[in-house]
Amino acid sequence: MQTLRQLLPAAIESPDPVTERWALPGGTITDAPRFPYRGAMLDVARHFFAVEDVLRVVDHLARYKLNHLHLHLTDDQGWRIAVDSWPKLTAVGGTTEVGGGPGGHYTKADYARIVSYAADRHITVVPEIDLPGHTNSALVAYPELAPDKIAPPPYTGTEVGFSYVDPADERTYDFVADVLGEVAALTPGPWLHIGGDEAFKVKGEVYTGFVERVQRIVADLGKTVVGWHQLAPAAHLDGRVLQWWGTNGEDPTTVDAVRRGARLIVSPGNHAYLDMKYAPDTPIGHDWAGLIDVRKAYDWDPGTHVTGVPAEAVLGVEAPLWTESVTSLADIELLLLPRLPAIAELGWSPRSSHDWASFRDRLAGQGPRWTTAGITFHRAPEIPWPTTPTIPAQRNVPQTDTATP
Ligand code: ACM
Repeated sequence: MQTLRQLLPAAIESPDPVTERWALPGGTITDAPRFPYRGAMLDVARHFFAVEDVLRVVDHLARYKLNHLHLHLTDDQGWRIAVDSWPKLTAVGGTTEVGGGPGGHYTKADYARIVSYAADRHITVVPEIDLPGHTNSALVAYPELAPDKIAPPPYTGTEVGFSYVDPADERTYDFVADVLGEVAALTPGPWLHIGGDEAFKVKGEVYTGFVERVQRIVADLGKTVVGWHQLAPAAHLDGRVLQWWGTNGEDPTTVDAVRRGARLIVSPGNHAYLDMKYAPDTPIGHDWAGLIDVRKAYDWDPGTHVTGVPAEAVLGVEAPLWTESVTSLADIELLLLPRLPAIAELGWSPRSSHDWASFRDRLAGQGPRWTTAGITFHRAPEIPWPTTPTIPAQRNVPQTDTATP
């Protein structure tokens, strides 16, 4: 259906009714994805986004045949999903965000609405509860989870790696089981993402021991574990998936986890992180993994990117959008477009068709569609966007008849 939509003129994207006769050439669409997992992530924790904004992001994913929406639901700056058994997570932990704004959270009905809207568009929601680090908002709500049992102040900055739930306290595992149980019950898809990144204060065997317990909780809920690739040293569990976000494809620890059976979602920070700026003058975004122009987003191969990981172990590709500097839907769209279609093509198209010159020209054709639909995008200078047709300055000048015969 999306392919058919792409074959129609840009006016198909108009929010207003268009009376026009459209002709399509007859033909057969023969099309199938290279990888089963094609996703994007939205961080709704650093800044909170209304359900309507998330639904619009779902539309963008569907347009480019992505089939997973990963929601980063919890972090130091805010807890965004209602948990009935631990109500202060949202009542207290949900009221903050980066920069001091009011935050917010999804009720279970809100979340169900996102899940259902996404499912109608063949998109599976992947909820992430980031553990054991990135948990300051939970500690503010429930100091009993903190290692020193003292509530930290709410956090609205952008540093990482300072917070963690107490891996030595049994109550922490009650918390994890309750939260993951409620989130699993709301989530029809098979995946439960447990984060695991940047828990700098939980080291070595304490970290792997914690992760192994949490992995078993996920498995007991009938879900498949997904986690950032920092999970790699923990024991393998059937089906487990690591999301690789490195910037250097030499990663023996991840390769070892793959040898033990892990599959990979590939999200290289320096190619697929959509919060990286396009250029030094991009008004929002980061540059810790470098600048990512459209060509950089397009020119890499998920099947060979991590040295020693065979293409068969690659479940797919995902483009994460972290939102420390992103505060509106227009900001989201500016960073998503036009790079999201680049990542989508890597996930969908066979390697044999990978071709920057062809992609650049086809991408250019999306510009008028976004303009017609009222979607914000970055007019990347390396893309030959069609120039906007100019309206004739004089009246009564004979016009070329452009009507379809
Ligand atoms: C991450 O970017 N900390 C996964």
